[in-house]
Amino acid sequence: MSVEAGYNQWAATYDEVANPTRDLEKVACEVMLQDRAHGAVLELGGGTGKNTSWVAERCERLVSADLSREMQAVARAKVTAANVEFLIGDVRQSWQFGTGFDLITCSLILEHVGDLGHVFNEAAEALKPGGLFYVCELHPFKQYAGSKARFDSEGGEKVLECYRHHVTDYTKAAVAAGFAIEDISEWFDGSDRAGLPRLISFLFRNKE
Ligand SMILES: C[S@@+](CC[C@H](N)C(=O)[O-])C[C@H]1O[C@@H](n2cnc3c(N)ncnc32)[C@H](O)[C@@H]1O
Repeated sequence: MSVEAGYNQWAATYDEVANPTRDLEKVACEVMLQDRAHGAVLELGGGTGKNTSWVAERCERLVSADLSREMQAVARAKVTAANVEFLIGDVRQSWQFGTGFDLITCSLILEHVGDLGHVFNEAAEALKPGGLFYVCELHPFKQYAGSKARFDSEGGEKVLECYRHHVTDYTKAAVAAGFAIEDISEWFDGSDRAGLPRLISFLFRNKE
């Protein structure tokens, strides 16, 4: 199922159904981005606004971009902060999101993007020199075990178009675009560090 059509359908239930990946990413985002000053922020694939209000409270202005009008409609209905601007756009295309950002966030979307190099090159252009790029995705170990973005609909389970990215796919694409790797963290369900990590997060620093 195409990503856009899938999220347009999933939007009605995305916030309501149990989703440990969604919930753990919120924890990761808040741990990784707390205690930092953020001026202008670009949120890629902001979806239903799970992180939008929290980030907006910690920055001067936030642009939240998404491919899916229905996902973004949920965010527009619940995010009331005056410093948030919503845009429809596709990170696989040439970015029309603006430039001069201090921080770009990207939570749970690169699973749906084949060409990571394009995203990192556009991010480097959109960020100020020295700006931060936060990326948090389903851990490749989970992908190797068969996990994919999927949801239940009246017509049965829908599985979205997904790409498998290895850890070095992220790091090599980032370094090739001029980023330095500031942090890599792995996120587990509860305190069970004996199991597979569910998520991997990266903080990349744009070249000065
Ligand atoms: C799993 S949801 C995550 C939403 C939100 N970031 C969160 O953590 O809850 C993935 C989101 O990425 C968006 N998305 C997927 N591919 C995209 C693309 N190529 N360009 C922009 N947004 C995209 C989807 O429409 C969806 O809203």
